[in-house]
Amino acid sequence: MTNSQAIWRDLQRHGAEMTERSLAELFSEDPNRFEIFSLRLDDLLVDVSKNLLTTDTMLLLRGLAERTDLVGRREAMLSGEKVNTSEQRAALHTALRATAGTVIKVDGRDVVPEIHAVLERVRDFAEAVRSGTETGKTGEPFRDVVHIGIGGSVLGPAMITQALAPYHHDRVRVHFVSNVDGADLHDTLKGLEPARTLFLIASKTFTTQETMLNAASARRWIAEALGDGAVGKHFVALSTNLAKVQAFGIPETRTFGFWDWVGGRYSPWSAIGLPIALAVGGERFTELLAGAHAMDRHFETTPLERNIPVTLGLIGVWYRSILGYGSSAIIPYDQRLNRLTAHLQQVDMESNGKSTRLDGGEVDVATAGVLWGEAGTNVQHSFFQLLHQGTAVVPVDFLVAARAHEDLPGHHDLLLANCLAQSRALMLGRSEEEAERLMLADGMDPGQAKALAPHRAFPGNRPSTTILYQRLTPYMLGMLIAMYEHKVFVQGAIWGINSFDQWGVELGKELANQLLPAVLGGAPDADADGSTRGLLDALARLRAR
Ligand code: F6P
Repeated sequence: MTNSQAIWRDLQRHGAEMTERSLAELFSEDPNRFEIFSLRLDDLLVDVSKNLLTTDTMLLLRGLAERTDLVGRREAMLSGEKVNTSEQRAALHTALRATAGTVIKVDGRDVVPEIHAVLERVRDFAEAVRSGTETGKTGEPFRDVVHIGIGGSVLGPAMITQALAPYHHDRVRVHFVSNVDGADLHDTLKGLEPARTLFLIASKTFTTQETMLNAASARRWIAEALGDGAVGKHFVALSTNLAKVQAFGIPETRTFGFWDWVGGRYSPWSAIGLPIALAVGGERFTELLAGAHAMDRHFETTPLERNIPVTLGLIGVWYRSILGYGSSAIIPYDQRLNRLTAHLQQVDMESNGKSTRLDGGEVDVATAGVLWGEAGTNVQHSFFQLLHQGTAVVPVDFLVAARAHEDLPGHHDLLLANCLAQSRALMLGRSEEEAERLMLADGMDPGQAKALAPHRAFPGNRPSTTILYQRLTPYMLGMLIAMYEHKVFVQGAIWGINSFDQWGVELGKELANQLLPAVLGGAPDADADGSTRGLLDALARLRAR
């Protein structure tokens, strides 16, 4: 707890008091609660009033932000300081959406002109493919684009492309392949014609084993159909490792670079976003960046008490480190955002799933919890049972658009009603007495009503945030994603950890490489544990059949 120990203690005391309070009571005490606890930016409204907190809570949390120098950390990140200390790198995804003419320096060099030069190439290339002037080896226009990448090199672009379906080109179809499981590539390529297929190989390092194997198999697919000479025409690379890209056989003209200060999970705004531009066009891609930039400006310039990412981050710290909630859910009532949580799982858990402080010491508060979720209303018929009546309290973010892109009578009204009903049900619950009364009013036998009442009661007092926007446009989507990026940053800054490295993913990769020879039939390492030996043995027997 270091120099902020006293405020952590105050928060803990306050937390114990707040768990005795009910949300319903907080609303009846203050008729202005919604106004006080809702934040706005353009057409975005973030209602945090259904969270278990008061103005005192927020004051204490902002005190914690001051004590942990949140503003200084924000300034350091935005100005290009090497905030990723374990890799000696800046974390400048915000520069990727900066307007031309802004000066942002890394190692004394302004990076904004280079960023805009790459973005221009991305937009031009996308337009050339979309118009059919950029063709494959046979001269036919491309119909299918297969983006191969994993983690940050696929989650963001895939999610964004899906979210922006109403803006898709009507000929060019974009597919995503990530898993080294051959089923992924195989099922994607089924039915595609090599002559009309363009591959994008997206990898910051151009060494990631899954991506490299998928890329090699894709290259073989093209070469077998069109000859080795077609590779240059049918492959594009999105990477920082230009030497490896060249060795693979992709020419410089087909390579879109970025920089080591773009973290994988923050890369859809860079050349990694090419599939988005191919799907929705350069102009829409620019709008996406502009939305993210608007959120960056808001994050940078709005006082902490009206600052959306700061408020969300502080509430996240409150629930995780003070009230001890182990997980939270993001539930978009927006089918096209079905993959949003998958992307944000990487943004959040890869950034803040850490127990070592920046100074190398061990953290003494709980850091990131488990983030999960999928689109509503579907999930109302699966895990919402646990949200309403389970023993764990799971704070939920609900996201919903005021207006749909479609004109299907009744659909959007019912979607909205369900979204609002869920946050209300979680907050208010239903007492046993009320459950019994309703059953009796329905004519149920009194004995049966009494017996059933505990099963049909809801504890309530379960917190949620509702994020309401006008319509899911590229601009709004950019704002929403940047909002969550900065929320995660705020939490990491308060916890005093490095949100920009990911050493935790390395050990498994190393061991996979060590195990590969044994999977291929070789002898296991002398120091292999009993379970791994047993599994390798069983595997060999099953594979021999
Ligand atoms: O394994 C984790 C990770 O390093 C992520 O951080 C990254 O987004 C992903 O792998 C892919 O890495 P690359 O873009 O270098 O292929």
